[in-house]
Amino acid sequence: MTDAWEVDPAYENYIGRWSRLVAPQFLRWLAAGPGGAWCDVGCGTGALSHTVLRTADPARVVGVEPSAPFAAAARAGADDPRFEVRPGTAEAIPAADGEFDRVVSGLVLNFVPHPVEGLAEMRRVTRAGGTVAGYVWDYADGMQMIRVFWDAARELDATAATLDEGARFPLCRPQPLRDALSTAGFTEVAVHPLDVPTVFAGFDDFWRPFLGGQGPAPGYCTSLPAGRRTALHDLLDTRLPRDDAGRIALTARAWAFRGSVPA
Ligand SMILES: C[S@@+](CC[C@H](N)C(=O)[O-])C[C@H]1O[C@@H](n2cnc3c(N)ncnc32)[C@H](O)[C@@H]1O
Repeated sequence: MTDAWEVDPAYENYIGRWSRLVAPQFLRWLAAGPGGAWCDVGCGTGALSHTVLRTADPARVVGVEPSAPFAAAARAGADDPRFEVRPGTAEAIPAADGEFDRVVSGLVLNFVPHPVEGLAEMRRVTRAGGTVAGYVWDYADGMQMIRVFWDAARELDATAATLDEGARFPLCRPQPLRDALSTAGFTEVAVHPLDVPTVFAGFDDFWRPFLGGQGPAPGYCTSLPAGRRTALHDLLDTRLPRDDAGRIALTARAWAFRGSVPA
């Protein structure tokens, strides 16, 4: 099963709407001054790029994205002459050495087959003294929406254990992130938790995005035969707590990371 990143509305409903909540917190933590050339690696539909444009006063922002439909959505979402999107990947960023002051990346590093190589490539396109930073979900614990999904899936299906992103992405914890950044040659390495509310209007609002096929958990969900998908639906439906208004109020934790390129 591959991790599909193709359909914009489905992605926005599943993850984009929550990444758009993490991005402003991440930028506050980064506390970068105005101006500068930014690169957003794996910009997707533009959750982070658009927030940089709106809140960080950049001189320019280059999004890099392998998925053509996502790149088109990112462009369409920001009518801003400071913004361009280039096709490319973290392993081969289409940019000159030292082109950027800040290279950022939201919810991408764990999908890069060799994260340290991806970080080293981000370092290549960042000027000396510049910053590489990003965030990934805490799949193993604090990203509750995905955590409760896999916990239920694993109860019903032993094969889900190997697909569970908490198991698949051990990188997404503080010490492995610090180690990866240090190995890739960064100094002043830091990792910090970012927590956002993920409030669903009701069970349908929680469940429907898992039917969109975008990313590992929805990819697994849509691959199930109808009867087993219904069993998973029903287990989650009985398990998830509602508040008085019928909402499912969860939280999502991302680990933000940063490192400096040695002068
Ligand atoms: C979870 S989405 C995050 C998108 C966006 N940054 C956000 O925060 O909403 C993961 C993104 O990583 C991209 N991606 C997957 N493999 C990649 C790679 N090797 N290099 C760069 N981007 C990659 C996908 O196409 C997708 O846009």
